[in-house]
Amino acid sequence: MRYRTLLENRRSIRDFKNQSLKHEMAMELMSYVEDLKGPLDDIDFHISFINNGFEKGHHLDGKVGYGGFPVKAPNYIAFISEEKPGYLQNSSYILEKIVLKAIEMEIGTCWLSVIKDDLDLRTNLSITEKGKLVAFIALGHPQGHVPFTPTSTSTRVPLNEFIFNGIWGQKPMVEELESRGLTNALYHIRMAPSWQNRQPWKLILDSDKLILTVGNNAMEDKDLLIDAGIMMLYMEEILKEEGYPVSWDALLEGKDNLYEKHKIPSEQHIVGALRL
Ligand SMILES: Cc1cc2nc3c(=O)[nH]c(=O)nc-3n(C[C@H](O)[C@H](O)[C@H](O)COP(=O)(O)O)c2cc1C
Repeated sequence: MRYRTLLENRRSIRDFKNQSLKHEMAMELMSYVEDLKGPLDDIDFHISFINNGFEKGHHLDGKVGYGGFPVKAPNYIAFISEEKPGYLQNSSYILEKIVLKAIEMEIGTCWLSVIKDDLDLRTNLSITEKGKLVAFIALGHPQGHVPFTPTSTSTRVPLNEFIFNGIWGQKPMVEELESRGLTNALYHIRMAPSWQNRQPWKLILDSDKLILTVGNNAMEDKDLLIDAGIMMLYMEEILKEEGYPVSWDALLEGKDNLYEKHKIPSEQHIVGALRL
């Protein structure tokens, strides 16, 4: 299925049937995971697939989910990453790919934030891998409605608050976006999920580059950078579908001059530049 169709219609599921995913389904999802790579492919990561979520779910209480209230689900995926520069973006890029694969398989999903990673949580869920526990994904069959339905409900910011033309705050040139085939792509890219639906992304169009930044006073850096990785995936895949031969420059270093050149506020993180 095309990415843009998946993205337009994806939504978080928080109400699951008490029925585990069939073994074959879990295997299909996990074998998809085996070949996945993130934008920074020298970072090791592990995925732990958790069964019997309804019985084990109480171990997540106070540690996972907004305010320590996890969504209860029959299965979970826990994502563990080696801690290196860029690991949060790398992790969420990969994890959202898994989410989209699950949605394509008509499995309901919901991202869950980790608010307290401790030994008890790991022991109770048999997570043995070393590294940072980045996030959980709740998985299962949705109660009531399927995850992939043609009416997306969560609101998204308008295009002119999402992308600037060259300089921070400068409205995009509609004709330019149209003539470069970017309007439609950007419409879909905006559908990315984010922590508390804060949509902390701002893009700057700089001739042949789209610079991705994230910032939001009410968010921690960890959540901002996780949202950044999801956006990296959406920008890359949707623009590829539009025929752009895109490649990421993850800009872990040497980005200081971009703040001045594009008048980007200093509190904003510059995540990377996608060459179009
Ligand atoms: C990094 C991240 C963390 C999230 N954490 C939680 C969470 O802990 N609990 C929850 O119910 N939803 C969580 N969500 C889901 C978002 O609230 C949801 O994606 C957003 O509100 C947009 O809604 P939609 O996914 O239905 O389009 C998280 C999403 C992301 C991207």
